[in-house]
Amino acid sequence: MNRHLLSAADLSRDDALLVLDTAEELAHLADRPIKKLPTLRGRTVVNLFFEDSTRTRTSFEVAAKRLSADVINFSAKGSSVSKGESLKDTALTLEAMGADAVVVRHWASGAPHRLAHWIRGSVVNAGDGTHEHPTQALLDAFTMRQRLGRLVGLKVAVVGDVLHSRVARSNVLLLETLGAEVTLVAPPTLLPVGVEAWPCSVSFDLDAVLPKSDVVMMLRVQRERMHGGFFPTTREYSRRYGLDARRMAMLPDEGIVMHPGPMNRGVEIAAEVADSVRSTIVEQVANGVSVRMAVLYLLLGGGPEIEAGA
Ligand code: NCD
Repeated sequence: MNRHLLSAADLSRDDALLVLDTAEELAHLADRPIKKLPTLRGRTVVNLFFEDSTRTRTSFEVAAKRLSADVINFSAKGSSVSKGESLKDTALTLEAMGADAVVVRHWASGAPHRLAHWIRGSVVNAGDGTHEHPTQALLDAFTMRQRLGRLVGLKVAVVGDVLHSRVARSNVLLLETLGAEVTLVAPPTLLPVGVEAWPCSVSFDLDAVLPKSDVVMMLRVQRERMHGGFFPTTREYSRRYGLDARRMAMLPDEGIVMHPGPMNRGVEIAAEVADSVRSTIVEQVANGVSVRMAVLYLLLGGGPEIEAGA
């Protein structure tokens, strides 16, 4: 594996499978009374968050702590960033304190890539602007493999606000590497320019895609990134691109429903769908911890052998 995880495209097929297999081994730890391994004792992981987050930040924190690393949580609010300190100076300060890995979420696409030039430790992209979110794609692939037993040939529909979604881009790249087939489904206004070059198909018709999909991944409508009208009304959006119980019934028998969270219940996904047995939304959160443990372990700890015995 590379020293950093900046993009899902950084992962070869072997790298990605190594992360998923390592995560599977580490997942057993969650069933033990003491959920800790000594593997990263003495290492320091900094969570550097310039954007709000519930799942991702806590997930990285739990993951690092379960591997016995020291964790520093740094959020831009309440720090010298609000006094105008730059990303570079912030990063150099954290490095001077001995950070071995920096997990970064930033509103600017490409910020983690810049950071990787400035510091000696590993950089993990925990979401940059509308660009990428590789650990989300890894936990999504992990969840698909866990529920459906395979990834090769799997048909995955990714539905909704693709334009603003770093989750969509990372999933398209990783799933292509792993041999799954992705179809993006969105109104034309919510598709990025240049999507034709992505390794996936595109459709505007959710009802036509659902019966052929093993997985349907619903994306949040990201209002905080929308400056203008991307669709007529929320009701119209839900009618065309929302997943309700009637639509969910069009999936094949084994078909599953995913969402990276946070959800807008009643907009892109109906509450009864989110809470149904087909939904993997809570599993995705649990799997996020195992996958992030695997990523930190492989970037910082070394080879594929997991140190047994806590
Ligand atoms: C996503 C994100 O922040 O990119 N959420 C997450 O990390 N679980 C998706 C979103 O915000 O809609």
